[in-house]
Amino acid sequence: MSLWLPVLLALFISVLGGLHLLGVFRRRRPKEPPLDKGHIPWLGHALDFKNNKVEFLQKMQRKHGDIFTVQIGGNCITFVMDPFSFGSILNVTRSKMDMNPIVKQLVARAFGYHHLENEHKVMEATNKHLMGDGLVVLTQTMMKNLQNLMLHSIGTVKNQKEWQYDGLLHYSSNTVFQAGYLSLFGNETVKSMGSKEKAEEFDWVHSEELFNEFRKYDSLFPNLVYAMLSLKDKLEAERLKRLFWNVLSFKKIMQKDNVSRWIIDHLQLRQEQGMAEYMQARFMFVLLWGSQSNTGPASFWLLFFLMKHPEAFKAVKEEVEKVLKETNQEVKPGGPLINLTRDMLMKTPILDSTVEETLRLMSAPGLIRAIMQDMDFKMADGREYALRKGDRIGIFPYISVHMDLEIHPEPHQFKYDRFLSPDGIRRTSFYKNGKKVKYFTMPWGGGISMCPGRFLATNELKQFVFLMLVYFDIELVNAEEENPPIDQNRVGFGIVHPTRDIQFRYKLRF
Ligand code: HEM
Ligand SMILES: *[C@@H]1O[C@H](CO)[C@@H](O)[C@H](O)[C@H]1NC(C)=O
Ligand SMILES: *[C@@H]1O[C@H](CO)[C@@H](O)[C@H](O)[C@H]1NC(C)=O
Ligand SMILES: *[C@@H]1O[C@H](CO)[C@@H](O)[C@H](O)[C@H]1NC(C)=O
Ligand SMILES: *[C@@H]1O[C@H](CO)[C@@H](O)[C@H](O)[C@H]1NC(C)=O
Repeated sequence: MSLWLPVLLALFISVLGGLHLLGVFRRRRPKEPPLDKGHIPWLGHALDFKNNKVEFLQKMQRKHGDIFTVQIGGNCITFVMDPFSFGSILNVTRSKMDMNPIVKQLVARAFGYHHLENEHKVMEATNKHLMGDGLVVLTQTMMKNLQNLMLHSIGTVKNQKEWQYDGLLHYSSNTVFQAGYLSLFGNETVKSMGSKEKAEEFDWVHSEELFNEFRKYDSLFPNLVYAMLSLKDKLEAERLKRLFWNVLSFKKIMQKDNVSRWIIDHLQLRQEQGMAEYMQARFMFVLLWGSQSNTGPASFWLLFFLMKHPEAFKAVKEEVEKVLKETNQEVKPGGPLINLTRDMLMKTPILDSTVEETLRLMSAPGLIRAIMQDMDFKMADGREYALRKGDRIGIFPYISVHMDLEIHPEPHQFKYDRFLSPDGIRRTSFYKNGKKVKYFTMPWGGGISMCPGRFLATNELKQFVFLMLVYFDIELVNAEEENPPIDQNRVGFGIVHPTRDIQFRYKLRF
């Protein structure tokens, strides 16, 4: 009997340990937010959360109020739904709340990339190339690449005055991806291809092929993050990862012309830290995905809403034509390309508001931080809660801000002038309960880890629309087209995707 005792004891302890890991013993402690573990050990609410985040979080909010803790796949996440309390999450030091541990895990799983010790320092050191003077240079490169791409594809058509048909999602994401990729990661040298024409031709073909592979990887991405890929998809994801690591290898990028400073600096800093070249290639894939995955679908929604709302279309079109005229430029057959500068893009408040409204409607990022120490958390109304080290804290602006009936009346309606003040500049005053809301739209996240590419991304969207409107007549094939349903699987990752493409047509205006 005595012999069995240690064995039984060991068994008992391991079962206890297992139950503990499953979250079975988790209890709400005094001062902690309401805890909802769900019925399934460990998984908790994972399935409901994955299937429809908006519905799930709204249900929890009705049940528990504007702060609650839910168990999702082994993590306890405290969601704060009150926008006035966001500041104390977004603007605290990394020693208290940090998204890096979560990003690190995600990036290792999705891209095979392993973080540097001082990863966020390297990130911060390179962000300047996406802003200020760096942005002026990038805007010029992007402007050239966009126009080359848009006009070369029509140049191959026999009768250039006839309507061309395409899926709007396909056309927009393809064009914006190709231009973004070439502008950031560089293009083929004239020397290696023999002539400028051949080099450009190669770039167009190569970047379109790459776009098709990118789209495949991007569609696998959500399930890759949830570790829910089928074996077949897993193998496909593996193939695609290797393809991108190869295309984006250190040697290949170094052989290109016109590589952006952003990429050059990332490579240089990582080289200095002694990072192996294969790991740098993996990081390049992280940057490609980060810089391209949202801009394509965003450009789709922007053009879609414009074509669906004639009054918006007319207002934006008049604005861009005015800006073009003010710089004494005009579009004519065989004429020079437009020189669309950063300065010109600063004079378009109506287009700005349209972009902001599109992002309000269609961006649904989930902002999640790891809680790095036991701490007290104060809500804006003074209530105090205890947060546990090792848990996570989350914000879901789509519900709390973008779709809030008070901050944005008729939140499901597209109103192109929602972000325009009566005197024609950007509107920044929005209210809830009579109080001014600081975070009134959050497509880029907020606080210390706000998207560093937001100026570039906004510029890209504006350039794309600007050029589409001055070069082409565009319209939906079916003028009565309804808003397409959104893919629930993408909610939480940034810009949502439509579940199907929408047909449109375009033809040269001149
Ligand atoms: C419409 C387009 C885009 C949207 C909606 C978007 C949105 C976001 C969001 C929500 C985050 C996370 C912020 C957080 O958790 O606090 C983020 C991070 C980031 N974005 Fe963007 N982004 C876009 C385009 C871009 C572009 C064009 C670039 C680069 C050229 C870029 C580079 C980055 C990087 C490097 C991070 C990580 C920042 C960090 O870890 O500190 N993004 N973006
Ligand atoms: C964030 O914190 C910094 C320094 O702690 C402070 O200067 C800044 O005003 C804060 N910003 C917000 C939005 O609270
Ligand atoms: C490469 O990109 C630049 C802009 O950075 C553009 O002017 C040029 O036409 C592109 N192609 C070649 C072959 O130079
Ligand atoms: C692109 O690179 C080529 C070769 O280095 C250079 O001659 C050209 O001026 C660059 N173009 C731009 C727009 O920087
Ligand atoms: C476009 O205009 C800017 C500013 O006026 C100028 O610096 C740049 O050289 C011009 N680019 C082209 C291609 O004409």
